[in-house]
Amino acid sequence: MDESTRPATSAPAPTGPYPAGPYRIVFANEKGGTGKSTTAVHVAIALAYQGARVAAIDLDARQRTLHRYLENRAETQACRKIDLPSATFAVYEGTSVAELDAMIDELSRSHDFLVFDTPGRDDPLARHVATGADTLVTPLNDSFVDFDLIGQVDAETFKVRRLSFYAELIWEARKERAKSQIRDARRAMDWVVVRNRTQHIEARNQRRIDLALTELSKRVGFRIAKGLSERVIYRELFPSGFTLLDKGHLGELGTSHLVARQELRALVAGLKLPLPPLDARRPQGVLEGIA
Ligand SMILES: Nc1ncnc2c1ncn2[C@@H]1O[C@H](COP(=O)(O)OP(=O)(O)OP(=O)(O)O)[C@@H](O)[C@H]1O
Ligand SMILES: [Mg+2]
Repeated sequence: MDESTRPATSAPAPTGPYPAGPYRIVFANEKGGTGKSTTAVHVAIALAYQGARVAAIDLDARQRTLHRYLENRAETQACRKIDLPSATFAVYEGTSVAELDAMIDELSRSHDFLVFDTPGRDDPLARHVATGADTLVTPLNDSFVDFDLIGQVDAETFKVRRLSFYAELIWEARKERAKSQIRDARRAMDWVVVRNRTQHIEARNQRRIDLALTELSKRVGFRIAKGLSERVIYRELFPSGFTLLDKGHLGELGTSHLVARQELRALVAGLKLPLPPLDARRPQGVLEGIA
C-alpha cells in the first residue's frame, strides 16, 4: 500500500470486559535482543501480582527464555519454600497453527491473560498470534538500526521516508484482526511500541528517535510507551526467576531497583490492560507489589 494513501488511525485504548476469552498480549519484534522476553516476564508477573490468572506461552522453542525464566522462578519458590505470584508457563514446540490454537483454547479456559513471547525473527506462529493480539507490544531499542524495521529515515533530516516491512506486516495483521473484531466480537488491537533498554547518555539520539517515532506513530497508528531502562539488574534476576516486584527477596541491590520498579509500574500502566473485577481475581494479598 502506498503510505501516502494510508489513513492515519488512532490506537484504541482497550476497555473490558469482553466476551471473547482472556486478554492476549503478544511481545513481538523481528529484531533480536530488544528485551521482548525480559519485558514479557515482568508484565506477566505484574499482572499476577494484581491477582490476575496469567498464562505465559513461549513461542521461541529454541531459546525459550520466557519459559526458562518462569521455570527458574518455580524452582526458587520450591527451594526457598516461598509462595510468589506467578504464571502458568508453557512452550509451544510444534509447527502447526491448529495445534497452537488448541493449546491456546485449553489455557483460555482458566486464565484472564495470555502472554505470548515470540522469537526475534520472522516466524509464522508469531505472525499468527500477532494477528490475534489484543495488545501487541513491540519493544524497540533507541537505535536507528532497530527503527529501520518499522520505518526508514532520511540520512540528513532523520525524517521518516517510508514504512518498512515490519510496519507493513503489522498493518496487514491489524486488517485481518479487524475482520475477526466483527466476526467474533473481539477487541480492537492496540499496538504499543515500547522504547526499551534506554540509556540516559544518549540525549541527542533519543530526541531524534522521539521525533521519528512520533511521526511514524501517527501514520501507522501505534502508541508509544516508555519501557525499561538498560540496567544490570534485569540480567541478574534470570537465574532466580525473581522480578523487580518481588520485594524482600532481592537482597542488597541498592536504590537503583526502586527506580527500576517505578519504571516497570509506569510501563504496565502505559499498556492500559483491562484487569478483571477485583472479586474475580485470586486473593494474592500482595497487591502492593505493583500498586
Ligand atoms: N532493560 C534491560 N537492561 C539490561 N539488560 C537487559 C534489559 N532487557 C533485556 N536485557 C538483556 O538483554 C538480553 C536480551 O534480552 P531479551 O532476551 O529479553 O531480549 P529478546 O528481545 O527476547 O531477545 P530475542 O530476540 O533473542 O528473543 C538478555 O541478556 C537480557 O538479560
Ligand atoms: Mg526472547
